[in-house]
Amino acid sequence: MKPLILVTGGLGYIGSHTVIELAQSGYEPLIIDNLSNSSYSVLHRLETIAGKPFIFEKIDLNDQAAMKNLFVRYPDIRGVIHFAASKAVGESIEKPLLYYRNNVSALVNLLELIEANEVSGMIFSSSCTVYGQPDELPVTERMPFGNASSPYGKTKQIGEQILRDASSDKTFRCIALRYFNPIGAHESGLIGELPNGIPSNLVPFITQTAAGLREKLRVFGNDYNTPDGTAIRDYIHVMDLAAAHVAALSRQLLGKQAVNYEVFNIGTGQGFTVLQLIEAFERVNGISFPYEIVDRRPGDIEKIFADTTLASDVLQWRAKRSLDDMMHTAWQWQQNLMAGKTTSTTQPLYEKI
Ligand code: UD1
Repeated sequence: MKPLILVTGGLGYIGSHTVIELAQSGYEPLIIDNLSNSSYSVLHRLETIAGKPFIFEKIDLNDQAAMKNLFVRYPDIRGVIHFAASKAVGESIEKPLLYYRNNVSALVNLLELIEANEVSGMIFSSSCTVYGQPDELPVTERMPFGNASSPYGKTKQIGEQILRDASSDKTFRCIALRYFNPIGAHESGLIGELPNGIPSNLVPFITQTAAGLREKLRVFGNDYNTPDGTAIRDYIHVMDLAAAHVAALSRQLLGKQAVNYEVFNIGTGQGFTVLQLIEAFERVNGISFPYEIVDRRPGDIEKIFADTTLASDVLQWRAKRSLDDMMHTAWQWQQNLMAGKTTSTTQPLYEKI
């Protein structure tokens, strides 16, 4: 029997790509999602890509009774990958309590159930946002938490602290993956990032502008201390990120963790500016789109990119896909959305904007 892995938020952007990678690596994902920032049609598309049905339950992690019942109905859960969380930086400033409920209370609920049901571990979605603006680059896992500029960032720091404490007992193990900037889409073009409303992240805004859905991209600041003045990030292909989850899960399930709580940076190790990203998108896809330079976005940091030595030495994982691959798949996904390409006659692909 394939090991059953609970994937919370498994129909979301990173969760859905990881479900594919799990299935291809011999695991059976048990997907739960409250559909607050995803849609049921993603399940059909996952099944098309994998050529098999998936187990799915529509459950909110804050619904304690439903969660308790889930663990009763699936007593064989071997591992947990916890994606379900809110992730919009701006929204977290407007609605901090929502973020503490969804990202902190829900985590505690889940941990209590994991403990009660003797599941041995969890893979946790953390973020490079925990570093704030690091003093040294590339940033290593040994560097301390910085000033997280939003409640969202604080929930990731608090989540890591909770998990560190929870894994100080002898049985529970956790691996926290600190994602840098995940972009791109599955090579099939059937799943990708589909934010609610107006995107706040760079790549969905670029693809929607290139598709004519947005008037122009605003580039936030060109007076940073970088080669072209625009901010630097470490962009990572979402399928490489998905593979990192499977590598971490395998390490955990095989009992290979050196200590009960481990942390890894998951990036490419290379930084690109906003203008370099735009150039790559236009070149790879043979399309240009309007943009203008505007003021810096409050709370943005100047530059960050990962030291990925630990992930490569310990997880034997490294990012394989290039920035061009990221730009190509992001645009392919957007075009498929626009064309309404769908795997089912009843489930529109482009349903949320
Ligand atoms: C933010 C969060 C990160 C979170 C991620 C996903 C921080 C510091 N970072 O990353 O933790 O995981 O969102 O939600 O909290 N940009 C533009 N124009 C736009 C949009 C973005 O120029 O319309 C620029 C930004 O200024 C930045 C870069 O593009 O320099 C990337 O921005 P974005 O995609 O929003 O990601 P981060 O802010 O790096």
